[in-house]
Amino acid sequence: MSTENQTITDAVRARYGSIAADVLQGKASSCCGDNCCGDTGDNTISVGLYDTAELDGVPLKAALASLGCGNPTALAELHPGEVVLDLGSGGGIDVLLSARRVGPTGFAYGLDMTDEMLDLARRNVAESGVANVEFLKGDIAAIPLPDNSVDVIISNCVINLAADKAPVLREAFRVLKPGGRFAVSDIVIHGGLPADLVDSAELRRDLSSWAGCIAGALTDAEYRAGLVAVGFANIDLEVTRRYTTNDLPQPLPAWATRLGDDLAAQIVGRFASTFVRATKPAV
Ligand SMILES: C[S@@+](CC[C@H](N)C(=O)[O-])C[C@H]1O[C@@H](n2cnc3c(N)ncnc32)[C@H](O)[C@@H]1O
Repeated sequence: MSTENQTITDAVRARYGSIAADVLQGKASSCCGDNCCGDTGDNTISVGLYDTAELDGVPLKAALASLGCGNPTALAELHPGEVVLDLGSGGGIDVLLSARRVGPTGFAYGLDMTDEMLDLARRNVAESGVANVEFLKGDIAAIPLPDNSVDVIISNCVINLAADKAPVLREAFRVLKPGGRFAVSDIVIHGGLPADLVDSAELRRDLSSWAGCIAGALTDAEYRAGLVAVGFANIDLEVTRRYTTNDLPQPLPAWATRLGDDLAAQIVGRFASTFVRATKPAV
């Protein structure tokens, strides 16, 4: 891994390690820290993703550590008996919900690189009493599972955090069974960022200061191309939530002030929580 990519990975691990430690101490979580999602520290991206009935029986600390930008288990149409893998499983909420959906004949794996998150997730599983679950330690760019062993890959606001997306998509394809499904919630920049208005690299860096969850987000074209490059078919990107400048912190970041209200609104409107579907062709 390059030094730059290692720096990103270390920063991501440190950020989520500290969030998990807060949750373990009983504090509420925000994927962005106190200074990037609004004055209150509320996490506008992760708010309201799960309905109350769905969370019935899920340990409070798993719900408190929910840091996603979608609800992949609800959208993935999981079936009894299936094997599910959650890339970047955090406090384990989507693994627990998947385990419930696939039932006792199915199995749900969570994969995360952050020790504190794994600790939190394992405590949540112990509290829930769910048996068909295992949390694995590792990088989503090097999945510790055999080829063709998983029916469905889910993930919730994690692939955007990967310093290099290509190995992540390649690994997802490798571990899926033929006919297996990629069913991932992520932040995507729809239509890219207009070069005549902004320096994309600078804007992406600035946006990372209000939502660490979207640092490194791919454009829709980049996501499609990346999935095609490793062999996926039937690719579909469905917007599940759009953002406005009201989701930015006050005072507005420098780039938003520089652009002015109208252009800043246009730019922020291109970032959207998105459900990304694809299949590994059956042979
Ligand atoms: C935004 S949180 C999402 C957690 C969870 N999916 C949820 O919805 O609550 C990102 C999680 O992904 C993990 N993560 C980030 N990059 C990773 C990588 N390259 N390999 C493994 N885990 C990673 C972090 O440790 C953290 O737990």
